[in-house]
Amino acid sequence: MDEVLVHSEAGVMTLTLNRLARKNSITGAMYAALAEAVAQAREDASVRAVLVQGHETVFCAGNDIGDFLDQPPAGEESPVFRFLHGIATFPKPLLAAVCGPAVGIGTTMLFHCDLVYAGDNAAFSMPFVNLGLCPEAASSLLAPQLLGYHRAAEALLLGEPFMAEAALEVGLVNRVLPPTEANGYGQAQARKLAARPLASLVETKRLMKKGQQQAVLQQMADEGESFRRMLVAPAAREAFTAFMEKRRPDFSGL
Ligand code: COA
Repeated sequence: MDEVLVHSEAGVMTLTLNRLARKNSITGAMYAALAEAVAQAREDASVRAVLVQGHETVFCAGNDIGDFLDQPPAGEESPVFRFLHGIATFPKPLLAAVCGPAVGIGTTMLFHCDLVYAGDNAAFSMPFVNLGLCPEAASSLLAPQLLGYHRAAEALLLGEPFMAEAALEVGLVNRVLPPTEANGYGQAQARKLAARPLASLVETKRLMKKGQQQAVLQQMADEGESFRRMLVAPAAREAFTAFMEKRRPDFSGL
């Protein structure tokens, strides 16, 4: 699967989204590869941290919209859900380096990362409403917690992008760098963590997360149910078809 590159070195598994012609949007096959890599990273004692990265011009344009139309994810066994569950429960350090657009899951997956480094060209957006959908990846719980309710409402109801500096201000990212340096810095930080005692990293992360792990998984399940229903409803079908036909969606009457 050359659209998801998996490389392990110095205790760090690096997952690179590599579908530039489609702006690193993620297909079902890519979710399956990502889910498998995350499962392997969990089991493999030689992997002590995972870094997710894209290209210096684009992190991820969200779910492949053609896939949404042709093969909407069916349930909790779907590759996307396995990937989300895998990162939401991943016990070791999980990092991301984000440059350019980070749309939909490109942003929501970051709520499950421990450290996030952004290029100054990073643009985060969660345009679920504009696509006739609702949030996923427990973002309807985690975005209000992290951003505060009103900023989360702006991000989730309007779905407009916010830039790296704003993400830094609210604590969604740890540091903003020139785009050419973001992946390298993320890698260096991941290797720094990989050199720390793994049991201490895992226990520290468990203790930080345990208070709301169940709530996050419950929210993801609730969102998933609504999301799957909305994926095949008229508003989403109109939004996806409009995207494919490169026109504005017409939601009048919906
Ligand atoms: N699914 C399928 N194809 C996608 C895609 C997606 N999510 N995002 C981009 N592409 C395709 C475009 O259709 C275009 O294809 P073409 O070359 O055949 O015309 C190609 O990738 C390049 O995209 P383009 O929109 O021309 O690039 P851009 O730099 O102007 O804009 C984005 C980049 C990411 C801002 C824009 O592509 C975008 O908004 N994509 C959709 C994001 C989205 O709504 N995702 C779903 C979230 S749940």
